Amino acid sequence: MSQMSEMVLGGASPAALERAPLPAEYVAAHLRVEDSDMFRGVGDKDVRKSLRVGPVPMPELAPDEVVIAVLASSVNYNTVWSAMFEPIPTFRFLEHFARQGGWATRHDQPHQVVGSDGAGVIVRVGSGVRRWRAGDHVVVSPAYVDDQEPATHADGMLGAEQRAWGFETNFGGLAEYSVVRASQLVPKPAHLTWEEAACNTLCAGTAYRMLVSDRGANMKQGDVVLVWGAAGGLGAYAVQFVRNGGGIPVAVVGSEDKAEALRALGCEVVINRAELGLTDDLADHPDRMIEVGKRLGRIIRDRVGRDPDIVFEHVGRATFGISVFVVRRGGVVVTCGSSTGYHHLFDNRYLWMKLKRVIGSHVANLQEQWEANRLVELGHIVPTMSAVYPLAEVAEATRLVQTNQHIGKVAVLCMAPEPGLGVTDPGLRARIGEDRLNPLLGRALGVGVG
Ligand SMILES: NC(=O)c1ccc[n+]([C@@H]2O[C@H](COP(=O)([O-])OP(=O)(O)OC[C@H]3O[C@@H](n4cnc5c(N)ncnc54)[C@H](OP(=O)(O)O)[C@@H]3O)[C@@H](O)[C@H]2O)c1
Repeated sequence: MSQMSEMVLGGASPAALERAPLPAEYVAAHLRVEDSDMFRGVGDKDVRKSLRVGPVPMPELAPDEVVIAVLASSVNYNTVWSAMFEPIPTFRFLEHFARQGGWATRHDQPHQVVGSDGAGVIVRVGSGVRRWRAGDHVVVSPAYVDDQEPATHADGMLGAEQRAWGFETNFGGLAEYSVVRASQLVPKPAHLTWEEAACNTLCAGTAYRMLVSDRGANMKQGDVVLVWGAAGGLGAYAVQFVRNGGGIPVAVVGSEDKAEALRALGCEVVINRAELGLTDDLADHPDRMIEVGKRLGRIIRDRVGRDPDIVFEHVGRATFGISVFVVRRGGVVVTCGSSTGYHHLFDNRYLWMKLKRVIGSHVANLQEQWEANRLVELGHIVPTMSAVYPLAEVAEATRLVQTNQHIGKVAVLCMAPEPGLGVTDPGLRARIGEDRLNPLLGRALGVGVG
């Protein structure tokens, strides 16, 4: 273990951390560019074959960046995409970024450190960093923006140079160290462990913007919100934001285990998608798609008395046509992804004649991320961690997400030697209630070390 890692784990003072040398290498989950074609023509693009764990060089620090000792991270679906090299190898993003020149050229390496969540301790700050110092406990927003772009000042997500950290950039969070921009930093909630804190930022921030922000669906009290994949990474936060904001979540899940998990989150209306007759080829059969939409609409009206005001979409081709059909007249379908295919098919008559809207949404700007984090700090939103894995087993953790056997979020211990560390306000933890904090823990099929 490096001197720096020992000092971080020993709780060294900010001054001591600043003085300690950064290690020349660190252990990271990464992909190799020479593997980019390994799945060509392969049916099961098993991420355990492409994700490696081993030493990578420590990058140089730019003036607007910090180095973080990452105590824990979590698996996001974008790491599944990266590790399958789908829809394109993420090395192409790195090459493109490097064309900017200057500090951006560091990102174009034969390896990519992946991962878009992280909780840890700042161990170095660049010369231009004003609001943070060594020793601060932070979580990291995945929104990597260029603050010299005008559009960024209207909305951080609107800049053309905005990227997803650890997906469209190098030096991601599934590693012992990460280099991130100061404009990605958010204070770590003091009542959470490292692994609990590492689960929230990407998925909770994305769900917050989609549902609560006025750039998303601007949900109001009493709104009925249909949440697809409600026991997944995004869905389990979406359900919480709906409940916390006085809305009524209608959750769709794929199994009875997941339905149970939703009930543990306090969601009363849960539909198993098996009872809808939902199949992945539905978009190829428009008439059947409307039939399924009518069936779902009847179930929702029976259970909550009205059509959904909002549909929370990320499943894509398999469900999008139903979402447009089933949302109420004047309602909103808000989408941030297309797990089952990005060429969607929907009957436009139901959109225009019934004055519905489709809103595209992506991650969250820093202000939205801080607003979502405040709700976590208040205990109104809780981590959706279901399992914890050590970094050495990150490929197994990612496989769990790839094969949809997980529930909520799968955490990964990076520098933290064991689960349960990192709580700096045990009083707040006790007031929020230990029993409320991890409603999904142990519910994934793989249980890791948790
Ligand atoms: N743009 C952004 O900012 C952003 C941010 C986060 C995620 N995303 C994207 O959003 C998607 C979901 O991310 P996630 O973290 O929630 O992933 P996840 O944890 O894998 O959850 C996705 C859920 O979708 C459901 N699902 C899968 N296949 C389905 C199908 N054929 N029909 C209906 N439901 C299906 C599954 O639930 P059941 O099997 O229980 O139905 C699963 O729990 C991914 O494509 C990801 O890349 C985008």
